[in-house]
Amino acid sequence: MAFKITVLFLVLCYVGWIYCDKPCAARLIKGESVVCVCNATYCDDITREKPQNDTFIMYTSTKGGARFEKVTGRLQNYKHVCAQDCIKTEFILEPNVRFQEIVGFGGAVTDAAAINWMNLTDLQLRQSLIDSYFSASGLEYNMARVPIGGTDFSTHPYAYNELPVNDANLTNFSLNEEDNNYKIPMLNAIKRAVTAPLYVVATTWSPPRWMKTNGEWYGFTKLKHEYYETYALYHIRFLEQYFSHGIPVWAITTTNEPVNGDLFLSHFNCLGWTAGDMGFWIANHLGPMLRNSTYRDVKILSVDDQRLNVPYFFNLMVMKHKDALQYIDGIAVHYYTDFIVPPSVLDVVSKSYPDKFIINTEACEGSQPWERKKVILGSWERAVRYIKDIITDLNHNLVGWIDWNLCLNKDGGPNWAKNNVDSPILVFPEANEFVKQPTFYALGHVSKFIQRGSRRIQCTERKPLLAWPVDAVAVVTPGEETVVVVMYSRDKKDKAIKIKLGDKQAELILRGNSITTIELPYKIKSSK
Ligand SMILES: *[C@@H]1O[C@H](CO)[C@@H](O)[C@H](O)[C@H]1NC(C)=O
Ligand SMILES: *[C@@H]1O[C@H](CO)[C@@H](O)[C@H](O)[C@H]1NC(C)=O
Ligand SMILES: *[C@@H]1O[C@H](CO)[C@@H](O)[C@H](O)[C@H]1NC(C)=O
Ligand SMILES: *[C@@H]1O[C@H](CO)[C@@H](O)[C@H](O)[C@H]1NC(C)=O
Ligand SMILES: *[C@@H]1O[C@H](CO)[C@@H](O)[C@H](O)[C@H]1NC(C)=O
Ligand SMILES: *[C@@H]1O[C@H](CO)[C@@H](O)[C@H](O)[C@H]1NC(C)=O
Repeated sequence: MAFKITVLFLVLCYVGWIYCDKPCAARLIKGESVVCVCNATYCDDITREKPQNDTFIMYTSTKGGARFEKVTGRLQNYKHVCAQDCIKTEFILEPNVRFQEIVGFGGAVTDAAAINWMNLTDLQLRQSLIDSYFSASGLEYNMARVPIGGTDFSTHPYAYNELPVNDANLTNFSLNEEDNNYKIPMLNAIKRAVTAPLYVVATTWSPPRWMKTNGEWYGFTKLKHEYYETYALYHIRFLEQYFSHGIPVWAITTTNEPVNGDLFLSHFNCLGWTAGDMGFWIANHLGPMLRNSTYRDVKILSVDDQRLNVPYFFNLMVMKHKDALQYIDGIAVHYYTDFIVPPSVLDVVSKSYPDKFIINTEACEGSQPWERKKVILGSWERAVRYIKDIITDLNHNLVGWIDWNLCLNKDGGPNWAKNNVDSPILVFPEANEFVKQPTFYALGHVSKFIQRGSRRIQCTERKPLLAWPVDAVAVVTPGEETVVVVMYSRDKKDKAIKIKLGDKQAELILRGNSITTIELPYKIKSSK
């Protein structure tokens, strides 16, 4: 079954056609893959090249240590060689069959992320971290989630207007030191780096304790009925502050993981909501107040909880308070139960509410109670879980995917509730460096190439019976100039595949255990 490759691959920057990326300064981690080390004078980068004429460009990262390895190939006329008995995997792209429009990708500017970023004292290194994620030489993230007040990823629990207590009109609302000295400076640095407008999603974990039934940060806790209007106002006050500091907010969510506060399990900032109460609050307080304010264009994303909770929570909310629906733009979901809950539950929601979009607003590795090691340097398995999840989510109509903390320290903190986790970037201020984990590249294979305004298209795999399937998603980019395909191949060995687009085909090799992004011209002009 030997397959003869007829396409010549060129490492582009050797022949001097295009910009030569700075390669990963790899540090091999024993028993794992590599991390890429950035210091004050060196940091790997990645430039996206436009495929010219009849060429395609591919970028590969592997367990073996390749990171965004860029090569080009030549498109050929499509040869239909495997009607019944395909000997190799083939992907059929149908750019006229279109699905959701992409909003974007990003990570969270938590207190922890911003404190870690500031803890890098070298200004060039600090800038490299921002550029790595947001700039034209980085992953081109265009979204950021920002907590309204504190979360577990803070050095202490807090909210705004904690004093005076029972202050229904929030007469003493002001931002905290964490906003002024850490998060807002980081967001401003991000704003200067982005290649598309930054969409900020803001979320409350817990309001001041005096608004809550148990008067505590966590435990079984709900909003006191007399403060329903105040909690809506709390969001407006936050928007006033952030807009006035030059940080426009694209969307707010209706409280982080509301189901946590209904259970006794949570040990950090939370606020419990039943679906019915939340529907009532949105329909009668948050919705009318926001839509009647200066910030009427700010979107409202509801649920903001695990995939597990999505269908029943949302359906119940709408069943009890249909009026809430008119204020809700989208549904926010989190990553942590994706490994047990099939993505088909998302389809149920998108079928029932075709005018509401779905977006992933939080994900991280190392958070499960059985994961004893919170940070695993160089873990390729974690990158694989990310890329598989992102591809699956996009194939189930999600419009974006926002990661959790942009960066953490070597222990996966700081976190006042000892809920440490992993992050795509870990900072080592004492060594004056930060490292990029494999998850950083998993996200980048998508965020860098699937720009805002891209539309997902039909991508069908035809494979030999016994071959492993390849995870894949395809989009046409804005302006219909190119088509982007992102793939994850679990095969240990290299795998020859072809991609059919119209009457052309790209023949290429997916490396063993690899994530690959392929960009092809959509309206193909021949150079002859
Ligand atoms: C920074 O990283 C580069 C590339 O790995 C290396 O050559 C250089 O020595 C490093 N500089 C310092 C100060 O460690
Ligand atoms: C207003 O809040 C600040 C903390 O932000 C607090 O120090 C001050 O005591 C509060 N004022 C009143 C009147 O409670
Ligand atoms: C809140 O302000 C309104 C008018 O701005 C006032 O009528 C109301 O009494 C105030 N409520 C409280 C609890 O201070
Ligand atoms: C909207 O706000 C205006 C004042 O800004 C107020 O007069 C009006 O009653 C409000 N409408 C609703 C539906 O809350
Ligand atoms: C900041 O860096 C120093 C070392 O330079 C370290 O001791 C400290 O723990 C770091 N702070 C955080 C919050 O990680
Ligand atoms: C692409 O085609 C145009 C003419 O159609 C030609 O001028 C240009 O050099 C070609 N570029 C490459 C990289 O082949």
